[in-house]
Amino acid sequence: MGAKLTADMKRVVVEQRLAFVATVCPDGTPNLSPKGTISVWDDNHLVFADIRSPGTITNLRKNPAVEINVVDPFARKGYRFKGTGEVIVDGELFQQIMNFYRGRWVDAVRSKSEARIRGFVLVKVESALPLTSPAYDHTSVDEQSIRKHWISYFAALNEGSSDYRRRESFPFFNFPLESRRNGMVDTVVEALILDLLEWVTKRERDRTYEEVM
Ligand SMILES: Cc1cc2nc3c(=O)[nH]c(=O)nc-3n(C[C@H](O)[C@H](O)[C@H](O)COP(=O)(O)O)c2cc1C
Repeated sequence: MGAKLTADMKRVVVEQRLAFVATVCPDGTPNLSPKGTISVWDDNHLVFADIRSPGTITNLRKNPAVEINVVDPFARKGYRFKGTGEVIVDGELFQQIMNFYRGRWVDAVRSKSEARIRGFVLVKVESALPLTSPAYDHTSVDEQSIRKHWISYFAALNEGSSDYRRRESFPFFNFPLESRRNGMVDTVVEALILDLLEWVTKRERDRTYEEVM
């Protein structure tokens, strides 16, 4: 029968530009590798390019079983797709898929990289299920706050910011006091109390995220 991809599944796959693709080796062990060319072919199929995926291709030729995970690292949500993968290396369908990729966002297909594509894998999706971090089990947590947390975590990581933790551990790092500066209170003492409360709440929230993920 196969599963129908929802609009949100398609959105996440197209937006994320990265999937982890699992296949089965002849000895039964798993093989997992990333594919930045992942995209949506139609309502029932995903597709990716074989540029440098000998393991995945060899496995699929022997056993078409495949599972694909796509996760938004900021929302900590995504989807898992299970199905069968067909390796396409020539013919009309190969050309159609190449045309689909041509001129699109995929880095690998621009100009001379196109020649490096050895084939495509068309994945018929048999089941599609949502993935949600256990962080969402906490009633106080919503997607917006999770996004905010991970965006700032990765921003600090990317900047190589060694004071990320220090900032978190010292509530009044940003003197003059935040809440006073923002006009929320009049006196320094009030501002201190408000900032301290804000810091405790944030610390608890951050601990919640990091404990469960
Ligand atoms: C972010 C990222 C994206 C990648 N995208 C692709 C891709 O779309 N197609 C591909 O063939 N290889 C891609 N690669 C390279 C393969 O994942 C890599 O060569 C891997 O070792 C292949 O393993 P396999 O032969 O078991 O599939 C990517 C690697 C990274 C790190």
